[in-house]
Amino acid sequence: MTQSNTQVGIQLGIQRRPKISVIGAGFVGSTCAHWAASKELGDIVLIDINGDSAKGKALDLFEASPVEGFDSRVVGGSDYSLTKDSDVVVITAGLPRKPGMSRDDLLATNAKIVRECAVQVAKYSPHAVLIVVSNPLDAMCHVAFEASGFPRERVIGMAGVLDSARFRSFIAMECNVSVEDVQAFVFGGHGDTMVPMPRYVTVGGIPLMQMLTKDRIDAIVDRTRKGGAEIVELLKTGSAYYAPAASAVQMLEAKKKKKKRILPCAVLLDGEYGIKGLFVGVLAKLGVKGLEGVPALEMNAEERAMFDKSADAVRGLVSDLKRLGA
Ligand code: NAI
Ligand code: 2OP
Repeated sequence: MTQSNTQVGIQLGIQRRPKISVIGAGFVGSTCAHWAASKELGDIVLIDINGDSAKGKALDLFEASPVEGFDSRVVGGSDYSLTKDSDVVVITAGLPRKPGMSRDDLLATNAKIVRECAVQVAKYSPHAVLIVVSNPLDAMCHVAFEASGFPRERVIGMAGVLDSARFRSFIAMECNVSVEDVQAFVFGGHGDTMVPMPRYVTVGGIPLMQMLTKDRIDAIVDRTRKGGAEIVELLKTGSAYYAPAASAVQMLEAKKKKKKRILPCAVLLDGEYGIKGLFVGVLAKLGVKGLEGVPALEMNAEERAMFDKSADAVRGLVSDLKRLGA
């Protein structure tokens, strides 16, 4: 009796590599695939309605692997059967912002796209962890959560890592120190109401409040809130993608390497912070199962008021989704 390749593989101790699918092979999706492949986080599938473009980008990336020396198979197309049995799926499909547009202007169009994608993902990979990137982020997490039918542990939004990375970059520039030594995070929704938390920022272990004046910190907080718009204004034809893709890949890495990292992410709160049934950015423990916990953060009255305002903005978007039937 002949043995299948899988049986032979098991006997040889060769395990299947993790499978990562990225839906939307645009700027964020293809950059995400690039970094995930170069870090050898798994084999990668790129899906896009423009299937030839996804196929072409995947082939091009795979052809870089002998030069760069990474072992990740990369394939692409428009057929979701390619994504079958993915361990993790990143949804980046949808329109990006143009100058003058807010993330919320994308609501109805992207809701339709994200819904279609999440249904297909759930059909082919019912056990995957979903990382949502499409905007407006917190509302798209709701869409993906409902459309996939996945538990909250397996639907997580990427925005907090990006907003915090911007916050950390601006602090490092201002203090003239390595970005590696800046610990900082942002709470709340991915929009103008996001809540950078300067009280918890440390630079090499030293509280930021001891290093910079209130005026300088306020200016950094303001620049962080407008960080996405700053890039849109410069690019003119789309929005940021290097830092967003790197942020999504950090979340992929936390799952793949079972790290239990504490990262700021949009998660469906279930009573934490007194909120239930709403995706909002908070600190989350990420590991192999996806969301593995929501550690509590003590907020003072001012931080709490800003967080509540941000949660209200997300609630508003979710009601708009329902009003639009999206
Ligand atoms: P892009 O326009 O370069 O790529 C989007 C891709 O989605 C395109 O290739 C398009 O063909 C594809 N697409 C559209 N409908 C599709 C469908 N039904 N199925 C499969 N693919 C489909 O845009 P970019 O810059 O990659 O941004 C993607 C999304 O990510 C945008 O909504 C953007 O606002 C969002 N974003 C979110 C961030 C966050 O922090 N959460 C950060 C950066 C971007
Ligand atoms: C950003 O913050 C557009 O949400 C995207 O760059």
